[in-house]
Amino acid sequence: MALPRLGHPNLGLGVGLRTTHFRHILENQPQVDWFEIISENFMDSGGRPRYVVEQIAERYPVVMHGVAMSIGSTDPLNFEYLGKLKQLARDVDARWVSDHLCWTGVATRNTHDLLPIPFNEQTLKHVVERVRIVQDYLERPLVVENPSSYITFVDSTMSEWEFITRMAEEADCGLLLDVNNVFVSSFNHDMDPEEFIRSVPHERVVQFHLAGHSNYETHLIDTHDNHVIDKVWKLYRLAHQLTGGVGTLLEWDAKIPPFPVLHAEVLKAKQYISGEVALGTDEDEGTDTEPVTAQVTAQQPSPESARQDASWVPHPLHYVPAEVE
Ligand SMILES: [Fe+2]
Repeated sequence: MALPRLGHPNLGLGVGLRTTHFRHILENQPQVDWFEIISENFMDSGGRPRYVVEQIAERYPVVMHGVAMSIGSTDPLNFEYLGKLKQLARDVDARWVSDHLCWTGVATRNTHDLLPIPFNEQTLKHVVERVRIVQDYLERPLVVENPSSYITFVDSTMSEWEFITRMAEEADCGLLLDVNNVFVSSFNHDMDPEEFIRSVPHERVVQFHLAGHSNYETHLIDTHDNHVIDKVWKLYRLAHQLTGGVGTLLEWDAKIPPFPVLHAEVLKAKQYISGEVALGTDEDEGTDTEPVTAQVTAQQPSPESARQDASWVPHPLHYVPAEVE
């Protein structure tokens, strides 16, 4: 049996580092437990971004979160990329390195999306082999995140949680359990999000993600542009109980609020964990109860306006600078 969190510490409540908050963080040194950086934003960069991230890494624990490893692709692993990843991990003393269970391109073309894979024996073997190679190369366990997804495959022969469980155990890797992604994918594919949370190997969960999403009635999209809804907080509380607590990170990538609002959002986790906050019993996902200490009201597009503006579907990968291609 694996050590809880694979021996990693519970870092507490952190937020994703975004360029818009660089100045605020350096000038005010807020009491944040830790930061997660998008690996690709700093792997090739010098100048101010690199200066800032090194300053932050001197003051706070830093975790690296990638979007371009493409662990599920049939393209060969990119060792030039992995070499830069390994060097950055050394430079910022990354507590751990994560990426997504997905593929982002094929035949050297980058789709700039976190694309899902079929869940079957063949893909499991493929992913397990690649995770093992990456871990050997990085000389540390990889922490793999469940992405949000919008399609399923007729070739899948097992549930997502069964795939994740077997992958983690056969590759001996860690898991980044994105609770919002569990909720989004479960809504889109008519799965039971509690069964998902209950079924993954809890001792292998190293980190949680929380985020807001957009509700288009027929489906949810993982937009990272709003407060966390009550039903996701409820799942988070369950995940916290089952794991005994792991580092929790709030992602907010579009319509990014001022830093204090972002920080206040992740600090709500304390109240949800302790049971201080009564969770809503709303049956309609879109009519979530008012967040506890909301200081701003982020505008979520109505389903009608979203349909009229179908060209605008934000995605976390859209916030990675183009030069990381
Ligand atoms: Fe995430």
